[in-house]
Amino acid sequence: MAHHDSIEYPQAQADDRHYSFTPEELAAIEAHAAKYPDRRSAVMPALWIAQEKWGWLPQGAMQLVADTLGMSFAHVYGVATFYTMYLKEKPARHLVEICTCFTCGECGGRELMEYACQKTNANDEGVSADGQFWFREAECLGACDTPTVLQINNDQLCFNVTPQRLDEILAQLQRGETLPYEHVPLRDQSILGA
Ligand code: FES
Repeated sequence: MAHHDSIEYPQAQADDRHYSFTPEELAAIEAHAAKYPDRRSAVMPALWIAQEKWGWLPQGAMQLVADTLGMSFAHVYGVATFYTMYLKEKPARHLVEICTCFTCGECGGRELMEYACQKTNANDEGVSADGQFWFREAECLGACDTPTVLQINNDQLCFNVTPQRLDEILAQLQRGETLPYEHVPLRDQSILGA
């Protein structure tokens, strides 16, 4: 049986940046921590605040979250590496996640992923040759009747995306334009007997 002394817990890999939260960010984290009997339970919103700030989660930022909530780096690292929405790297400017699950997978999602990677000369990790886009397959994004669904930068959803529509979206992102917010398209509810 392994003794705890023999376990090597991960340590934050240092880089040359200094990581700190602003007073407003700290107040937001403290507001989350106050909701729980154990302040460590605020680790997920705190990681989210850090990711919004740096665009991804460098290990120095994870260490900062650990210090802020009084927990070990290994604990924070374990949470951050469990969930795919926490980015442990950011190899391109925009994260473009393409749903290849259930309906989307059957209705063009897998082909759309291939199309995106081919069109941008992406490498095996789905990073476009120009470093603009990082294409990842997504699990169901919760709008299965509007395949194919895309999620941009962990935030914006796009519905009914065809290759032609993808071209437009990528061009807009490349020009630095903000994509208009899309509502889930309404369907004819009468088929549900409503
Ligand atoms: S299968 Fe793509 S959104 Fe559900």
